[in-house]
Amino acid sequence: MKNIFSGVQPTGVITLGNYIGAFMQFPALQDEGRTVYCIVDEHAITVPQDPDELSNNIRTLAATYLATGIDPEKSILFIQSEVPAHAQAGWILQCVASIGELERMTQFKDKSNGKESVSAGLLTYPPLMAADILLYNTHVVPVGDDQKQHIELTRDLAERFNKRYGEVFVIPEIQLPKAGARIKSLQEPTKKMSKSDTNTKATIRFLDTPKQIEKKIKSAVTDSDGIVAYDEVNKPGVSNLLTIESAVTGQTIDALVKKYDGLGYGAFKEGVATSLIEHLTPIQARFNELIDSPELDQILDEGAEKANEIAQSTLKKMESAMGLGRKRR
Ligand code: TYM
Repeated sequence: MKNIFSGVQPTGVITLGNYIGAFMQFPALQDEGRTVYCIVDEHAITVPQDPDELSNNIRTLAATYLATGIDPEKSILFIQSEVPAHAQAGWILQCVASIGELERMTQFKDKSNGKESVSAGLLTYPPLMAADILLYNTHVVPVGDDQKQHIELTRDLAERFNKRYGEVFVIPEIQLPKAGARIKSLQEPTKKMSKSDTNTKATIRFLDTPKQIEKKIKSAVTDSDGIVAYDEVNKPGVSNLLTIESAVTGQTIDALVKKYDGLGYGAFKEGVATSLIEHLTPIQARFNELIDSPELDQILDEGAEKANEIAQSTLKKMESAMGLGRKRR
């Protein structure tokens, strides 16, 4: 049986990038093995968070997982801070990682760039992520393209640990979506769409209204030749919109290019917006039913209980392999 694990940070409403890159992969995997999905709140605090906002974002993210197809009968859904083994195993893996390899992480470089002071946690973020994955004997990690380097590091840390202390960890593989591993900003289509973008027009949010979606797609940056064609280098804006429509409709890029042949960007953007709104509206309705329901708390309680059991068992193996604690005489 395959073990599958992924996590998402509760830092504001997810973007269309998160949705296509990660969430759209999650439901189908539920029939392929044991799926564990995590709300990584301890990762969120590597940058300052308002406590009330963080707590609301955790609930919003839990409802998002469920609304987008996570079935609590099939998957374990839980909050990272409710399973203490993550922080404990994260510490151990910090002691296996070197400062040099953590400083080379592009996400650390991007997030610390230009800042006078950043938290030590921002640097040691990847060993905590490795702990998330390795505690569940994970074979497959479904994520977007921007997590590649973190998964590589996770594999390195697991191999290093196994070599030093004996075979404790499964070495995980990354799984990228077939389309949409890197959804781009609508305003600067060579950059990834990011939750932290300050330009609100650059990012579509999972809970945006149809009007907001239409407006953002209409003002998406394209080019001036008026031809709907897929060419990531010369037509990044148009290619990004084609990728988005292809991901949410399941139609191939070729079929979409044919559909818009000779129609111009006005009709193209209208088509993309309509497909996206049609796709998101029923999911948003499910989200609205779930967000205030007591059922959500019950699902998270049960998820934490199941996750604790698995994580504790791996943590014990890690500690005993390293000689931590004491041997009873
Ligand atoms: P986070 O919360 O930034 O993003 C969640 C997921 O969304 C994907 N993603 C994208 N995919 C396509 N296009 C984009 N523009 C885009 N932006 C984000 C991410 O690749 C990710 O899959 N470090 C992780 C959270 C994490 C984790 C883990 C993931 C912590 N522990 C263990 C997997 C396994 C992160 O910051 O994701």
